[in-house]
Amino acid sequence: MNITREFIDKMPKAELHLHIEGSFEPELMFEIARRNQINIPYKNIDEVKAAYNFNNLQEFLDIYYAGANVLQTERDFYDLTWAYLQHIHKENVLHTEIFFDPQTHTDRGISFDTVIKGIHKALEDGKKQFGISYRLIMSFLRHLSEAEAFKTLEQALPYSSWITGVGLDSSEVGNPPSKFEKVFEIARQAGFKVVAHAGEEGPAEYVWEALNLLQIDRLDHGNRSLEDEKLVKTLVDKQMALTVCPLSNLKLKVVKDLKEHPLKTMLNKGLKATVNSDDPAYFGGYMNDNFWEITQALNLTKDDLYRLTRNAFEASFANDDRKKEMIRQLDDYFNKS
Ligand code: HPA
Ligand code: ZN
Repeated sequence: MNITREFIDKMPKAELHLHIEGSFEPELMFEIARRNQINIPYKNIDEVKAAYNFNNLQEFLDIYYAGANVLQTERDFYDLTWAYLQHIHKENVLHTEIFFDPQTHTDRGISFDTVIKGIHKALEDGKKQFGISYRLIMSFLRHLSEAEAFKTLEQALPYSSWITGVGLDSSEVGNPPSKFEKVFEIARQAGFKVVAHAGEEGPAEYVWEALNLLQIDRLDHGNRSLEDEKLVKTLVDKQMALTVCPLSNLKLKVVKDLKEHPLKTMLNKGLKATVNSDDPAYFGGYMNDNFWEITQALNLTKDDLYRLTRNAFEASFANDDRKKEMIRQLDDYFNKS
């Protein structure tokens, strides 16, 4: 069967790799900038979109952090998160696990409380109004020191019931997982799940470190794992999930063309790959665009789509009952179509 856009759009899905600051659409950025009386260096939305042309991760991060500067109040963080939830509700996303980067905000004088309260309130409203279940993952910025990550972990402790896991993002090359070994150990002991971006631009060695030193529960990106056969075998043996982000990989030039994207190879090798949007406002697509574009580029089959979506439900940090319920919905969908 040829996969249609409608089939993808209606497919029940889970998102496991989404930076909430990366869902900040230019329209909302202008609105909040006006409200907070902040100048942004663009005249209009077209100018903003024209600036979203990246040659690598760092060029993206510079613009992404600049955009986040506009966010100041609890309401801003609520509106940002609410806009994302409205979007994924239309895309049949049943469950989402979102990253937030507290240091991007606390370093410019916005309190940790302001950030997390706005995000959490919107997530609760999304659960009530749309039935979208969620988990929140706090990411440490790896270009900053481990001491600063420790400070952030301390600020998070009063909110530990709202935070399921810790992650590691920002500029990868030169900031290996080993730099954060101690803070991740303490986070694990405090009961947090552990994930890390590794092997997006950084080498397979960083993925080994994420596995062996950080003891991750899930691997974000992981593309460059394919350069090391022994690593691939280890990831397969552990059934370690990879949160793969096709349009992000294209926009940040991790791949030259989606036709060269390794997603199908990952599945063929038995890797537990999933599809995610990463920073949809910057990379040109939410979940359904990611699924649609990669399906077309790689001629994915219905079996591939089932595997990818099932992997995401299984690898999520949802509780077992919720996982079962979502997988039941997925099975119903594939059985009737
Ligand atoms: N990689 C690293 N850091 C990030 C990303 C990413 O894809 N998105 C937002 N912060
Ligand atoms: Zn990411």
